[in-house]
Amino acid sequence: MHPTIEWKDGKVVMIDQRRLPLEEAYVECADEEGVARAIETMIIRGAPAIGVAAAYGVALGLVNAQPGLSLDGRLDEVIARLARTRPTARNLFWALERMRGVYRENAHLPAAEIGLRLVREAREIEQEDLETNRRIGAHGSELIQDGDSVLTHCNAGGLATAGYGTALGIIRAAFEQGKRFRVFVDETRPFLQGARLTAWELDRLGVPLILITDNMAGWLMKKGEITLAVTGADRIARNGDAANKIGTYPVAILARYHRLPFYVAAPLSTFDFSLRTGAGIPIEERPAREVREAVGCPVTLPHIPVRNPAFDVVPAKFITAIVSERGIARPPYRTSLAAWAGKAPENPKPPVR
Ligand code: MRU
Repeated sequence: MHPTIEWKDGKVVMIDQRRLPLEEAYVECADEEGVARAIETMIIRGAPAIGVAAAYGVALGLVNAQPGLSLDGRLDEVIARLARTRPTARNLFWALERMRGVYRENAHLPAAEIGLRLVREAREIEQEDLETNRRIGAHGSELIQDGDSVLTHCNAGGLATAGYGTALGIIRAAFEQGKRFRVFVDETRPFLQGARLTAWELDRLGVPLILITDNMAGWLMKKGEITLAVTGADRIARNGDAANKIGTYPVAILARYHRLPFYVAAPLSTFDFSLRTGAGIPIEERPAREVREAVGCPVTLPHIPVRNPAFDVVPAKFITAIVSERGIARPPYRTSLAAWAGKAPENPKPPVR
């Protein structure tokens, strides 16, 4: 599988997720502005992948800093720009603060050496994310059995991470263990991450899949054709409330109504232990164009009013279990997640936006 993102010859190279699955094109970013735009325009998307991209963005911003200018000021500028890209994914702010920490530890060194250390840290964040996903997969694979029909929403696969995936990491690990099951993929309007990206990934892996439109899951659950649901998350509060791609909330409610398990998979870098509940999670509103169009073609009149919240929040009470690299947490999440809080990546005050 092609890497989602990598550092190559002093630049950041990303697969262009807007063009998949019909075209495998790559985009090169030479500075932090390029990375910021790639995040905003969804060339790269998915909470952990956004975090990795932001880390590389910081490294690029400092490696290319003009000699003689204050590096402290440059760092603030670069972080502020990257922090303005997308508000919901906790991983973005987590990665930016981790990069700030490495800068501070090395601020006494010559500029060239600081740049090298920031590149090294970004690479480490990328590598750790890959390993974290494999651990999530190993823990979560026990939730899938032979004969299951798994529903997933959006794309929480290798493309949304440094590789392997979170929700898809669980599916992938179970499949690699020889379990035989099928996956229903929600197309995930308006950006179609399910139809375009998840279907592409599962197809390449050889995992049996069936693509459905977002409004079909309820009926298939009623008919007994879906046996469990698993999704990723963009930010998880202390009480277990989890933000994920718009449309995840109805999936969770449908699963509860039909007495099916609904699982969430995410690395600790997605957890925001400063938030008591999901009510504090900022929800991104994206351009109206994405709703008025489908893959670039108009589906309504240009003046029709539109709402486009990009995420919703699943209340913890609808989540059967949360899987991270630490294992499987079950309700009550205030207790089970508290055990993870101590081991969570640092959660300092958010950057200036
Ligand atoms: O708007 P997107 O495509 O960035 O939203 C992505 C999701 O909602 C994913 O499910 C989430 O980031 C988890 S990715 C491992």
